[in-house]
Amino acid sequence: MVLVTGGAGYIGSHTCISLIDAGYEIVVFDNFSNSSHEGIKRVEKIVGKKIALVEGDIRNRKDLQSVFDTYNIDSVVHFAGLKAVGESMQIPLQYYDNNVCGTVALCEVMQKNGCKKIVFSSSATVYGDPETVPIKEDFPLSATNPYGRNKLFIEKILRDVHRSDPTWKVIMLRYFNPAGAHISGTIGEDPDNIPNNLLPFIAQTAVGKREMLNIFGNDYDTPDGTGVRDYIHVVDLADGHVKALDKIDNFKEVMAINLGSGDGYSVFEIIHAFEKASGKQIPYNIVARRSGDIATCYADTAYAEDILGWSAKYNIDKMCEDVWRWQSKNPDGYN
Ligand code: NAD
Ligand code: WQD
Repeated sequence: MVLVTGGAGYIGSHTCISLIDAGYEIVVFDNFSNSSHEGIKRVEKIVGKKIALVEGDIRNRKDLQSVFDTYNIDSVVHFAGLKAVGESMQIPLQYYDNNVCGTVALCEVMQKNGCKKIVFSSSATVYGDPETVPIKEDFPLSATNPYGRNKLFIEKILRDVHRSDPTWKVIMLRYFNPAGAHISGTIGEDPDNIPNNLLPFIAQTAVGKREMLNIFGNDYDTPDGTGVRDYIHVVDLADGHVKALDKIDNFKEVMAINLGSGDGYSVFEIIHAFEKASGKQIPYNIVARRSGDIATCYADTAYAEDILGWSAKYNIDKMCEDVWRWQSKNPDGYN
């Protein structure tokens, strides 16, 4: 059975569907700090069966042990974590505690129970401000904020765990910019407060919840001056996790693998794609650059194709259509 930490969240819930579709048995472990039971109910509707669910915190070894006592867990897909870059600068200790200490606790309990396979949610943020694009996995790593340092530390911790006991199987998937929603329009990204990320903000503007989009700078060294990113459909990402679990036994070394589309799109290109998908106009303002933002970021995807046999299927139009279906059917998210 696969333990999915953070399985009630945005990427986790989509991955649960793909894992079940691929024939994996799963149990979700989540403290619902950034998700809702409603999301899990909707996943159950999509897959047509009940999902084993344990409510608990990855920092709590007792909570975790109870999962290993109840279920026969042989691998873990580890999504659980806090993920807001700006917030991580305000409350860094909570980020280190939740994300880094939480992962240490998880690995300890895994080891104690003889479960040594983990697929970890890393991020393209570990590349900092890269000198060139597309970004390859062997580029230098750095971080500009506590959230990024969490990911870097966790990657290093997982490498140390593997060094101490090479029977561990570790895959670190470095996501670029996750976007999109399930085709049903019943699950998707549901930010609690004002969205930090571009697509949820655009979607809330289109549905009338936000007045206008602030574009953070149009003076970058990019074709139209706005930031360029590699948006990757969440269902493609979910499929990447299935491929990672399918192949994890083949790898002797710790694997760090980019999950991106390999294409870069500017903020203006995303706005236009969303306007086309939704039929709505997105009013915008150009404002100052957001501190910490970089000009351009997109993945070299050759390694993922070669190692996992995985590549993105869905383009930016499909991402916008799916986000719009989710947002327009659920203007208040899961509430
Ligand atoms: P999310 O917030 O929707 O999901 C994370 C889930 O983990 C939530 O359900 C939350 O309740 C749970 N959680 C948090 N702390 C926990 C704890 N201590 N114990 C148990 N459960 C806990 O976020 P997401 O977008 O689905 O991201 C999933 C993972 O992918 C995170 O690790 C994130 O850092 C990483 N990631 C996300 C992005 C992105 O832009 N969405 C990009 C790169 C990497
Ligand atoms: C995309 C582009 C903004 C919002 C972040 C994290 C990263 C990863 C993914 C977790 C940029 C511009 C955005 C807005 C805007 N998360 N923008 N107005 O910053 O590439 O990555 O999420 O691992 O670590 O840093 O994504 O969606 O915030 O921004 O103009 O209201 O849209 O400047 O060019 P980012 P994003």
